[in-house]
Amino acid sequence: MKIMNRDVQSILFSEDEIKQRVAQMGEQISRDYQGKELVLLGILRGCVVFLSDLMRHITVPCEIDFMSVSSYGFGTQTTGAVTIRRDMTMDPKGKNLLIVEDILDTGVTLSHVKPALEQRGAESVKIASLLDKPSRRKVDIQLDYYGFSTPNQFLVGYGLDYAEKYRNLPYIGILKPEIYQK
Ligand code: IMP
Ligand code: MG
Repeated sequence: MKIMNRDVQSILFSEDEIKQRVAQMGEQISRDYQGKELVLLGILRGCVVFLSDLMRHITVPCEIDFMSVSSYGFGTQTTGAVTIRRDMTMDPKGKNLLIVEDILDTGVTLSHVKPALEQRGAESVKIASLLDKPSRRKVDIQLDYYGFSTPNQFLVGYGLDYAEKYRNLPYIGILKPEIYQK
């Protein structure tokens, strides 16, 4: 029996479900990038658990780099203003970049990041997000790979946070609304 964090209302995706799905995503990405080299570009900090599991299912040569972008603050709603807090270390010029995100919500964050990377001369820029919350989309942006489609509820665990907490839960759960409404 799993001991559920008391602030989580229910488990949406279990450790096992996530593990299987992430493996499938890694296999698909490996097939699609056959004969190429790849840079996994993680968007900190939500990407860390997903990226570290995903990369172990990728069989083409791959490097990793990270970027930190802010559009959220401490609440559960994106503010709309996107700033790069920490840029990637390598030069994106000529690279096949695969942006790795925990969840695509309004899409505002990546709708700023993706064209900026293309302008800097990346060979290709695609997006892999573990979760997709399509009901909340505000901008037109396509996911190249996603793990699960999710309902419009605030989720935590497996890298996803609320006010920087709960990232260490091994599953993805629905946060009790009273936690963020208080
Ligand atoms: P977007 O710009 O609205 O697509 O924001 C995406 C970012 O918002 C994600 O990378 C997450 O950090 C955060 N986010 C969106 N929905 C959730 C959620 O349900 N739980 C935790 N973080 C979320
Ligand atoms: Mg994030």
